[in-house]
Amino acid sequence: MRPRIRKTVLVVHVIAAVALLGEVWALVVLNTAATLAEEPELAHAAYRLMPFLVFAGGIPLSLTALATGVTLGLSSHWGVFRHSWVAAKLVLILGVICLGAFLFDPVGMAAATAGGRGVATDRQWGQVAVPAAQLVMLVTATALSVFKPRRRIPRTRGDHPQ
Ligand code: HEM
Repeated sequence: MRPRIRKTVLVVHVIAAVALLGEVWALVVLNTAATLAEEPELAHAAYRLMPFLVFAGGIPLSLTALATGVTLGLSSHWGVFRHSWVAAKLVLILGVICLGAFLFDPVGMAAATAGGRGVATDRQWGQVAVPAAQLVMLVTATALSVFKPRRRIPRTRGDHPQ
């Protein structure tokens, strides 16, 4: 890949990955505010706003970070399964996407708090825990990206050196 294109892909990768970290942080704050809110209406409003952050932020940013990351890996000496820090990031971003897809439920929380109804606090703290776990995974991925630990993934027999 020509250096200018590669640098452009890297810029898009870093912006998407770190913006995703910021979006997830905002979800931790919004969910904590909804859990601690005295008025159920405020919690309901917060849960109704979260899907905007997810569909305009979380989903496109995580898919962009994944696609540009794999492109950077395949177009460089880093590879995708050659160095543990890149392979670890692939596992981390897929984990972030799965947590968001299967455990994060702002729509269900909005329905449960409609009409000023309260909802079980432990269920609300569960919705704080999901983006909090995503945050830890993205901070880990960012640190791995900067420190790039030198551990290579051992090649299997028949895996021809480049
Ligand atoms: C989990 C979310 C991710 C975050 C927060 C993240 C963050 C970053 C950051 C900050 C850099 C720049 C590092 C530097 O230049 O010092 C970087 C570079 C890189 N990332 Fe990611 N990344 C993520 C996911 C991925 C994935 C899933 C892959 C591939 C499967 C990947 C592959 C790469 C590669 C190969 C580079 C090195 C580019 C280079 O300098 O040649 N990243 N990433």
